[in-house]
Amino acid sequence: MTNASPSSVRLTGWGRYAPSRVLTNADLERIVDTSDEWIVSRTGIRERRVAAAHETTASMGAVAGLRAIRTAGLEPDDIDLIILATLTPDYWMPSTAALVKEAIGNTRAAAFDVAAACSGFVYAYATASAYIASGMARHVLVIGAELLTRFLDYADRSTCILFGDGAGAVVLSASDEPATPVGIELTTDPQGAYMIWLPAGGSKSPPSAETIARGEHKIRMEGKETYRFATRTLASTSLAAVGKAGWTQDDVDLIIPHQANMRIIEAVAKGLNLSMDRIFVNLDRYGNTSAASVPIALAEAVNGGRVKAGDKLVFVAFGAGFTSGAVAMEWTADPARGPIGDAAVNPDDVVVRKPVDWDSVDPIPPALAEVMRRPLPVDLDLSDVAPGEPARATHAAR
Ligand code: ACO
Repeated sequence: MTNASPSSVRLTGWGRYAPSRVLTNADLERIVDTSDEWIVSRTGIRERRVAAAHETTASMGAVAGLRAIRTAGLEPDDIDLIILATLTPDYWMPSTAALVKEAIGNTRAAAFDVAAACSGFVYAYATASAYIASGMARHVLVIGAELLTRFLDYADRSTCILFGDGAGAVVLSASDEPATPVGIELTTDPQGAYMIWLPAGGSKSPPSAETIARGEHKIRMEGKETYRFATRTLASTSLAAVGKAGWTQDDVDLIIPHQANMRIIEAVAKGLNLSMDRIFVNLDRYGNTSAASVPIALAEAVNGGRVKAGDKLVFVAFGAGFTSGAVAMEWTADPARGPIGDAAVNPDDVVVRKPVDWDSVDPIPPALAEVMRRPLPVDLDLSDVAPGEPARATHAAR
């Protein structure tokens, strides 16, 4: 950590990682009473990624983080601070950020996790921005990483269809260039505290045979209340951030929203009077990856040619808490750097150290393992998979 004079903040690096294993709506039809038609029409989700048994939140976050560092043209040791947003850490302690620090080969950064559920990446971005603006750090790695498929109740069709795994990251850097406009808005509304929650495992209800028997270690959600909050808050939080940047919504080139539900995103577009071509959507292929969703979408949008220097962007998310957050920022980096950073990192080369005297039980939930045990190689469009990831994915046969 440094104690330099306050600086302007630039986004210099971005990267993502998605596990190669695809879980389609057809696969889910084999686990719960649902249908592809219901899932697509109510959510817009067609498939999501599932981490393999050897993957963890830290391993996915490390790959995405290293890609963001390479995109920025930096070395791991240039990073002063690592902030990782997640609701699915590898362990209660140490922080997942500490594991990522070692896995990416950084020897000098401070590292900590942020808990703000699906808004976590935006909260972490705001924190990183403040560290740089105050002069306390020059390069901060901000990661959103989630392994949600291990915390879902595969008997609850209203939640298990929504979520997927993955990681995204950005590097924020101090710059001597003049500051570009930025607006950040964060909100927390505890009225929604028990609308999306994971009841057991914490100090209020420590893990026990009884909490496990009650299924209290899985995500629970009041879908309708969450939906109402999301549609209200995504628009108002975006507008607040846009206003703080000194813009109106008509100035915004691209909104990158939390990828939770297509109907929520369409409602927000309507509320903001913006056409859908100014809103980036990739939830059809990933589902809701919580804190990872905005940075994965950002990396895809930039690498896919949707962003150019000078564009005005808004990142906006909502999540458990209820939390919400938005960042309005002007893009200054060269979009062509993204594929270079992706190609520079082979996921197989990024290793999270395991404890020497302990190994976990099989982490894949039995219902999911059953579907994943019967793989059939199929040709999938992997244009969204970054170079360096496995060239071919498999998914379960029906
Ligand atoms: N397949 C088939 N039927 C289903 C499914 C399913 N997967 N899930 C629910 N249904 C049924 C219900 O049982 C209900 O049947 P009933 O009428 O016979 O009782 C019917 O479909 C309608 O259910 P609703 O809950 O009213 O469906 P709704 O249109 O509200 O959609 C959904 C549910 C998709 C969960 C929606 O409410 C939603 O997206 N909410 C927001 C969730 C969200 O974004 N969460 C993000 C959390 S962010 C974080 O921090 C983790």
